[in-house]
Amino acid sequence: MSVSKKIRVGIVAGGQSSEHEISCISAGGVLAAIDRERYEPVLIGITKSGQWVIPPDNQKLAIENGVLPEIVGGLEKHAEEAIEGLDVLFPILHGPYGEDGTFQGLCEMLGISYVGSGVLASAVAMDKSFAKSIFSSVGLSVAAGIVVNSAKGVDASHLKYPLFVKPARGGSSRGTTKVKDPSSLQSAIEEALEYDSKVLIESAVLGREIECAVLDIDGVATASPLAEIVIVGNHEFYDFEAKYLDGSTQVVHPDDLPAQTYKAIQDSAVAAFEALGCKSLARVDFFLSDGEIVINELNTMPGFTSTSVFPKLWQQAGVSYTELISRLISSAL
Ligand SMILES: Nc1ncnc2c1ncn2[C@@H]1O[C@H](COP(=O)(O)OP(=O)(O)O)[C@@H](O)[C@H]1O
Ligand SMILES: [Mg+2]
Repeated sequence: MSVSKKIRVGIVAGGQSSEHEISCISAGGVLAAIDRERYEPVLIGITKSGQWVIPPDNQKLAIENGVLPEIVGGLEKHAEEAIEGLDVLFPILHGPYGEDGTFQGLCEMLGISYVGSGVLASAVAMDKSFAKSIFSSVGLSVAAGIVVNSAKGVDASHLKYPLFVKPARGGSSRGTTKVKDPSSLQSAIEEALEYDSKVLIESAVLGREIECAVLDIDGVATASPLAEIVIVGNHEFYDFEAKYLDGSTQVVHPDDLPAQTYKAIQDSAVAAFEALGCKSLARVDFFLSDGEIVINELNTMPGFTSTSVFPKLWQQAGVSYTELISRLISSAL
C-alpha cells in the first residue's frame, strides 16, 4: 500500500488592504474545512504593514465579541522563505496587494502555483473603472458615472442623484457613501480618497442586489444559482456593518424572478468572467432595476467563510465547502 504525500497548501491571510480582517475570517473558515486527508495547510500571515509572518498557533481568525481578527505578529519571514516547500498557495486576500494582481505577479515570478485568477484579470477586476469599461464593451450595462482624483472642482451635475461615491479599488464597502444631495458630495469624495487616489462617482441604480458565483468546472465557467442580498433594519445600502457586523443582511434565493431574467443574470455573470479573462472563481454582483440587469462589480477573491455567499451558492448547487476548497486547489495545480 502506498501512502501518498499530502499536498502542502499555503493559506495566505491578512494583507495590506482595508479588508485585512475579512481575509483572516475567510482563512479561518478554509483552515477549519480543508480536507486534511489530502492537504496539509500552512497558515501564512501578512500584516497590515506588509510583513510576512508565520502566525503563532493561537492566532485568532474569527470575530470574537465584536472584535475583528488581525495578523499582528509571529515568526517573521521573507516572502520567498515563507512559501518554501509549499506546493500551492491559496491567497485568501481581498483588495489591493492580494486580489489585485500584485500577489499573483509575485507567484508567477517565483514559479509557484496559486488559486484564482492571474495577474491581468485580478488587476482589472480590482479597479472598478477599468472593469466597467470592459463589461460595457461586451454589452453588459453599468451604472452611469465618472472618475475623479480630487474632491475639488468636481462637476457631477449630469449624474442623477442619489449618487454613490466609492474608491475605485476598494472593497467591503469601505469608503463608500450614498450621497443624496450636492452639498454632501465633497465630503463623500474626501472620505473615498482616504482609501484610494481614484474615486468613482455613480448614479445609484435603485433596485435589488443579486449575486452569482462563477466556478471553473473542468475548464467551463459555470454559474451557480443566484443569491439576493436583502438588508433589513437601518441601512441605506449594503455597507460594512450590514455585511459583517450587525446581522442585518439576509441572503435569500430570488424565487420570484422570471426564469428568463434568472438565466440572463447567470449568463451575464459568465460573460463578465470571460470578458476579464478570470480563472477558477469569481463572484459577480448585479443590480436588477425595473427588469434591467446592471453589473456592479466582479470579485476575483470573494468572501470565503463557510457562510459567505460564494460557498453558500455552491453548497446549494451540491458542492460542499470542503469539496469547493479541494476543487480550487486541484485546478491551481
Ligand atoms: N451605483 C450604485 N447604485 C446603487 N448602489 C450602489 C452603487 N454602487 C455601490 N452601491 C452600494 O454600495 C455597496 C458597495 O459597493 P461596491 O461597488 O459593491 O463596492 P465593494 O467592492 O466595497 O463591495 C453595494 O453593494 C451597493 O449596496
Ligand atoms: Mg460589492
